[in-house]
Amino acid sequence: METDTPVESAATQNGKLKNNFHGIIKVKTLNLRSGRLKGRMNSEAASFTSSMEFDKRIFHADIQLNIAHTMMLSENGIISKENAQKILNALQDLKKKGINALDIDPSVEDIHMAIENYVHSKIGEAAGFMHTGKSRNDQVATDLRLVLKNELESICSIILHFIEEILNMAEEHKETIFVGYTHLQHAQPTTFAHHLLAYANALKRDYERLMDAYKRVDMNPLGSAALTTTSFPIDREMTTDLLGFSRIMENSIDAVSSRDFAAETVFALSMLASNLSKICEELIIWSTYEFRMVEIDYEYSSTSSIMPQKKNPDVAEIARAKSAILTGELMTILTILKAIPYSYNRDLQEITPHLWNSVDNSKSLLNIVKGMLSTVKVNEKRAAELAKSNFASATELADILVREKKMPFRTAHKIVGRMVTEALENNVSIEDIDSKFLDNIAMELLDKHLQLDDEIIKKALDPMENIKSRTVIGGCSPEAAEDAILKLRRFLNDET
Ligand code: ARG
Repeated sequence: METDTPVESAATQNGKLKNNFHGIIKVKTLNLRSGRLKGRMNSEAASFTSSMEFDKRIFHADIQLNIAHTMMLSENGIISKENAQKILNALQDLKKKGINALDIDPSVEDIHMAIENYVHSKIGEAAGFMHTGKSRNDQVATDLRLVLKNELESICSIILHFIEEILNMAEEHKETIFVGYTHLQHAQPTTFAHHLLAYANALKRDYERLMDAYKRVDMNPLGSAALTTTSFPIDREMTTDLLGFSRIMENSIDAVSSRDFAAETVFALSMLASNLSKICEELIIWSTYEFRMVEIDYEYSSTSSIMPQKKNPDVAEIARAKSAILTGELMTILTILKAIPYSYNRDLQEITPHLWNSVDNSKSLLNIVKGMLSTVKVNEKRAAELAKSNFASATELADILVREKKMPFRTAHKIVGRMVTEALENNVSIEDIDSKFLDNIAMELLDKHLQLDDEIIKKALDPMENIKSRTVIGGCSPEAAEDAILKLRRFLNDET
């Protein structure tokens, strides 16, 4: 061996290795990979490139992975039972002691090295067998998936609880008149239950999207090693079973390169956050003095340091703002991914903190919005009053004209539209609309009288009658809402 080979240089440079030329190289210190480089990375570069901080989250997963991999190596005669046992003992010992037993200095680079160093410090060179037929490339991809599966399970379970709370509220408010808006202008009367059910259905889709992403998170990259698998006769099915994955990632290059599982999870989370943000936005608007339709609980409100009368919806505002974090994280992840060549590139490491940040923020958003919405009180009197004003029930009058007078909807639309304009210009309120008023308009537009019964007009313009008449699937009538609640309860039952 020439004296200036990297191994020798490393030995002479930093005294890490001592080659006895007769047996294996004795590794004296914990710099396990000092073969190729002449020295260490400088400390600025080391902390710049270290993933240690956000790797803490995969500590347990990495131990679990090393245990599964070591068992598989031993079972298949790739490493001796004796060495495997030593490794497993050290890993179990670390599991018990927890992450604080590790040297997590950034110079150690990442959690995988820190764990290997720990095993080495306990059992010496036998630790080196643990990394046979694996690489940190397949390791990190596997760890991330293991942890993300758990996180997805817990987020999905919070969503189901949230939907349940919403259904309980909806049950109470099937007859609570509320205003439905389009363009944030009075549109049609509805019920608070109907509006709440809109939230529940959106959350159901968020749940389904996350569960669908889960299927693709639940795939095992382990065994891909650096990128082309290994010549050792490893058993990928065994580690897949041991780690509780449903499927193996079939192509090893794809397995170490892909983070689309993270991108689609974060998309589903940002869609969820966006839906939560919209709920906050509505609570903020509805709780203003101008709307006064809901009252946010004091537990989710704050006041002003100067204006003693203030009750501010700060929690909803912060939640609305925090949902933007998710959109930002999604953009970051997609942008990191878009131009890296196959297979592993260190850029992938930079996705990890954004993934965890997305998970944490969506969890806290979910919990806070769930708490806030379920304690909201509806101002039923005010909501009913608003639903009656500003001709919110005009669509039904047009529908009645179609039904009673067999006229095309467009004609009816024109008559009622003109009627509203006349009423507003002449300060005529909805209660004063009668057959005579309508006929003046009809005469002007159609040159004939409609002679609609006053009672029919009254009924058409009554918000509750409007609500009751919308009995089709997805409608706002109390029966339609009851059906919707039942359907969603059945869904909850099936999922839990
Ligand atoms: N810390 C790395 C990451 O999170 C682990 C894989 C490192 N692989 C490598 N070849 N440097 O992606």
